[in-house]
Amino acid sequence: DWVMGDYISEAVAHIREQVGDEEVILGLSGGVDSSVAAALIHRAIGDQLTCVFVDHGLLRLNEGDMVMDMFVGKLHAKVIRADASDLFLGKLAGVSDPEAKRKIIGGEFVTVFKQEAAKLKGEGAKGAKWLAQGTIYPDVIESGGAKSKKAVTIKSHHNVGGLPAELGLKLLEPLRELFKDEVRELGVALGLPYNMVYRHPFPGPGLGVRILGEVKKEYADLLRRADAIFIEELHNFKDEATGKTWYQLTSQAFTVFLPVKSVGVMGDGRTYDYVVALRAVQTSDFMTADWAELPYALLKKVSGRIINEVRGINRVTYDVSSKPPATIEWE
Ligand code: XMP
Repeated sequence: DWVMGDYISEAVAHIREQVGDEEVILGLSGGVDSSVAAALIHRAIGDQLTCVFVDHGLLRLNEGDMVMDMFVGKLHAKVIRADASDLFLGKLAGVSDPEAKRKIIGGEFVTVFKQEAAKLKGEGAKGAKWLAQGTIYPDVIESGGAKSKKAVTIKSHHNVGGLPAELGLKLLEPLRELFKDEVRELGVALGLPYNMVYRHPFPGPGLGVRILGEVKKEYADLLRRADAIFIEELHNFKDEATGKTWYQLTSQAFTVFLPVKSVGVMGDGRTYDYVVALRAVQTSDFMTADWAELPYALLKKVSGRIINEVRGINRVTYDVSSKPPATIEWE
């Protein structure tokens, strides 16, 4: 609509004015905020923007390719895809503590991003002068009011707060004044696909905190396939009363890999394979959350498909814990 159109024109003019002819780099994660920031900045300055997409190997099924198809294939943006999955998995070997895993993933993420940024600085005559981030208004409030809100860190959320200064870059944050729903509307108006813009939140450490204990490639590969089935069926099942899909009716839904084996039976044989848990919650603020009362028919379809299609998993459970006292993620 015209209101959003006006907003885009103003934001574009403002970015051009700030940046002039200088170069900008942006860390693209595939999440809503960095994607919308990238699309907006690209609209404003085109090839003066370079996106760095760090693929830590803990993304969802085909996620990396989807990000590249969208930003390179459709928007024609410059994106450097740093495939660092071996590096991340190597650093995570033997580590099972959730906070230790978060620190490693967050730390390596910054290291890889800095290496790519340094390469860029070496390349052009000018080099990047700006670091763009998809900071939105609630992030601004949260960091301002953090002292009073939480005395202890329950889970350290990975952020790149100190990065601009360290890299000697100026900070470009075009979404700083927007709420999440406004960011989503902006994304759609900029031509990003509805499914990308209305995707459930995904944690920075990705599948690293959805594989309980030690992270292994074998586990990540099984989990990606099981999770893709769960998400696909959440999109397929509609609630009669509201006409909405169960994906829309849940705030966050995902699959958790449990590194334990249980006995099953298949044909004439016995199986001894891994277990996954399905998690689906409804919440308005993610501080408290109820487990979603998914229809049995949906759970039945998902468990049948996972056990039949993902060899290596022979049991599916549903998590019926609310937050508090449980958290949304299992780690
Ligand atoms: P919990 O598990 O604490 O999750 O109830 C609340 C919300 O935060 C997300 N979450 C994270 N996001 N880095 C992130 O970027 C993290 O380390 C992290 N841990 C949890 C979680 O997915 C949920 O939306």
